[in-house]
Amino acid sequence: MKHLHMTIALISVLLFTLRFVWLLKDSPKLQQKWVKILPHIVDTLLLALGVAMAIKLAISPFEQYWFAEKLLAVLAYIFTGVYTLKLAKNKTMQIIGYLGAIGWVMLIVRLAITKTPLFLG
Ligand code: HEM
Repeated sequence: MKHLHMTIALISVLLFTLRFVWLLKDSPKLQQKWVKILPHIVDTLLLALGVAMAIKLAISPFEQYWFAEKLLAVLAYIFTGVYTLKLAKNKTMQIIGYLGAIGWVMLIVRLAITKTPLFLG
């Protein structure tokens, strides 16, 4: 379950990066139907597997603060991702948005591995 979760997380970040590159290049590939659908399926699966594991391992964000911080970082990753791909008005803002989103991914992976909060607790 954990390895599936990690693989899907990697696919999620790769799909986000692919869409970002196509966005910078103004590529028509961004309009393909699968590009609009697949990332949502992958992200939903990632979330569902994460929740299932948390329940199975009895990990609660109210007790384990690294997990609360991870959930907040996932929210920030989603918002910076939407900002990058939909809201950013020009290439500079898109690049800043992308770097911000990847920064959140780095925190998420660090929290997942160390299980030690950086800011909370
Ligand atoms: C971009 C999003 C995410 C990334 C990159 C990510 C990454 C990871 C990684 C690398 C691990 C394995 C850590 C280890 O070596 O033990 C892991 C475990 C885990 N993740 Fe995620 N994750 C993400 C999203 C989520 C979400 C949304 C949830 C819950 C809603 C979640 C819940 C968990 C749980 C419960 C574990 C198992 C912790 C344990 O072994 O005790 N993850 N995640």
